[in-house]
Amino acid sequence: MKRMNETILVTGGAGFIGSNFILGWMRAGASSPTSAGVNGAAAVVNGAVAVVNLDLLTYAGNAANLAALEGDERYTFVRGDICDAELVGSLLRKYEPKTIVHFAAESHVDRSIVSPEGFVRTNVMGTFTLLEQARVYWSGLGDEDRAAFRFLHVSTDEVYGTLGPDDPAFSEETAYAPNSPYAASKAGSDHLARAYFHTFKLPVVTTNCSNNYGPFQFPEKLIPLMILNALEGKPLPVYGDGKNVRDWLFVEDHCAAIRAVLEKGRPGETYNIGGNSERANIDVVTAICDIVDEMRPRAGAAPRRGLITYVQDRPGHDRRYAIDARKIANELGWKPAEAFESGLRKTVRWYLENGDWVESVRTGAYRDWIAKNYAERAQL
Ligand code: NAD
Ligand code: TYD
Repeated sequence: MKRMNETILVTGGAGFIGSNFILGWMRAGASSPTSAGVNGAAAVVNGAVAVVNLDLLTYAGNAANLAALEGDERYTFVRGDICDAELVGSLLRKYEPKTIVHFAAESHVDRSIVSPEGFVRTNVMGTFTLLEQARVYWSGLGDEDRAAFRFLHVSTDEVYGTLGPDDPAFSEETAYAPNSPYAASKAGSDHLARAYFHTFKLPVVTTNCSNNYGPFQFPEKLIPLMILNALEGKPLPVYGDGKNVRDWLFVEDHCAAIRAVLEKGRPGETYNIGGNSERANIDVVTAICDIVDEMRPRAGAAPRRGLITYVQDRPGHDRRYAIDARKIANELGWKPAEAFESGLRKTVRWYLENGDWVESVRTGAYRDWIAKNYAERAQL
């Protein structure tokens, strides 16, 4: 009979949230310092559990995010595709992980509008492949290991659709109503995760989180894009009237929530994670302008708020997202630690201090995307 060890398999760990999660996991020296690994693998070294990171390194993935772990024997990087069943199966057999934390996805709504196919492939088929290979692996474990195993599926609040200004926030009971190809593909993956618990009893837990921000976020998303454009004196393209609302969560708080769910979450449950920080886009962008003005003053130049440019809206643009995070607070004792204003300042500072990282991710393909997405948007 197969035995598992303490290793965790992370997918998409070279992306924004995945890299923050792995770095935080290593810092936390996470989890039980008990197992030495039944197959002789370095499952626990110096009290910290080993991590295997499976990532395809798409445009959004950057192995350098984890440069701090170079030479760390607890960390293994595997470049590969979650849609590759043979690879996934062989990694599970080789490393015998106790836990899978599944971040890998196509994640940008605007790209899902321009080319949706890759979203269905990675988010739906990729998640299916992981679930199916996990089921095969898990079925071969002994009773105790089967009960301890977890598959944590990381998802988004966008599966719930859009809210009016006075609607109650999304709870775990809110009906799914995805509006973008991105949200629909994540909803599909959530349904598969649910079905694998219901039908096969695979111990799956799903988290649905609001918009994250913080270090290592690819600068196609609102906050890093605006920070860099403001720094460089470029136009700040706000979609529509700028009054769409998102509930912002500092990425380290999301990672702490995931750790809490891994430790105490109940299989088959879903947990909504949010920051209690609803902000209109225009307020986020003006706040960024003011912080960049303060941290990088330009003698004699006009305030950066003057760079704000309203541009043609995103098709099907969800108006408002808000999370009711009472379940995870009450059941698991998790609450966000970072206020939006302080988290935003930390984030701006990180982008100002990490120009080399910024340059390394702004490749030709990145510049092509920016040209495509914004050139076709009329100024309002
Ligand atoms: P990201 O786009 O920054 O990173 C995605 C990572 O997945 C990249 O490293 C990429 O190389 C990898 N990847 C993509 N396709 C792959 C494949 N076929 N096989 C293996 N690896 C592949 O995304 P993110 O913002 O870090 O989001 C991570 C997860 O969290 C996603 O599932 C996303 O839906 C979810 N989420 C994100 C947010 C947010 O605000 N960013 C909020 C809630 C939930
Ligand atoms: P984004 O960071 O793409 O996250 P999501 O669409 O998943 O919420 O966008 C956040 C909000 O900012 C969303 O309402 C769209 C808006 N937005 C702009 O106004 N301008 C931009 O250039 C971008 C990328 C987003």
